Amino acid sequence: MSFPAARPRRLRTTPAVRRLVAETRLHPAEFILPVFVREGISEPVPVSSMPGVVQHTRDTLRKAAVEAAEAGIGGIMLFGVPQTKDALGSAGTDPDGILQQAIRDVVAEVGDQLVVMSDLCLDEFTDHGHCGVLAADGSVDNDATLARYAEMAVVQAEAGVHMVGPSGMMDGQVGVIRQALDGAGHQDVAVLAYTAKYASALYGPFREAVSSSLKGDRKTYQQDLANSREALRELELDLAEGADLVMVKPALPCLDILRQVADRSPVPVAAYQISGEYSMVEAAAANGWIDRERTILETLTSIRRAGAEQILTYWAVEAARMLAH
Ligand code: PBG
Repeated sequence: MSFPAARPRRLRTTPAVRRLVAETRLHPAEFILPVFVREGISEPVPVSSMPGVVQHTRDTLRKAAVEAAEAGIGGIMLFGVPQTKDALGSAGTDPDGILQQAIRDVVAEVGDQLVVMSDLCLDEFTDHGHCGVLAADGSVDNDATLARYAEMAVVQAEAGVHMVGPSGMMDGQVGVIRQALDGAGHQDVAVLAYTAKYASALYGPFREAVSSSLKGDRKTYQQDLANSREALRELELDLAEGADLVMVKPALPCLDILRQVADRSPVPVAAYQISGEYSMVEAAAANGWIDRERTILETLTSIRRAGAEQILTYWAVEAARMLAH
């Protein structure tokens, strides 16, 4: 009988040795918390499909931002839910719109501790729920949408945001936004590009979180999950247009994309662990089918290992606390 000369199990023997040789470590500073703030409510409204997540009032948002800063996370991504929607998403470019108010509130409260980011997209503000404005035939008009994004970028920058996150997947959006920001004297506002954003059923709970009016899907502008090559093309374009960070979304269904982007990107690579990824784990854990905390840390570790350096996750604050002890 011959025994193995090589014994990889030696490095798995004790918690101490496993800790010593771990290649991937999670740190609160790389977590970004997405939050929802809704106009015209006096109490937070729970998002039923995302247990533990709420639509905040301006007041509870401030408190959540302080908690996030105390937990030591790296950033906060703001999504606004306006009281009135229209075809152009006018509330998105109103200097006193809910998202702009939220930016001002959060920057005033924790702007020196957290990177304050805002979603730069029209879908929360349009009555048809699409990420852009519509052409006469009902299709999403790419170039007319770019003009709206340019306005939105400047309004968000004037409210004091540090980084904008264009999530609409219009062609040329990063370039137009960069130009608009520079033209208005906001050279220091960074662009977190949604570089590879795939159409996914896992955005479902988010639609409730932003009280979306969308019927149908976003398959004419978000990428097809069957493809990886176009993610690399989107990466080249976003870099050429001036992206400061690039992002892959969703996270777990796209770990291969994340790895390919991370291998090629000269700028930091983020991943968005989206609403449905959160809800699946919460639902299974609520049924007692999986260990909730272990699963959360496993998903974050996998996303990190695949190449993400920053992770947007609804568990940002909780995960930061888990890592603290
Ligand atoms: C669109 C946007 C979406 C998300 C972030 N920005 C939804 C979509 O593309 O349909 C999804 C985030 C999530 O599901 O957690 N502005």
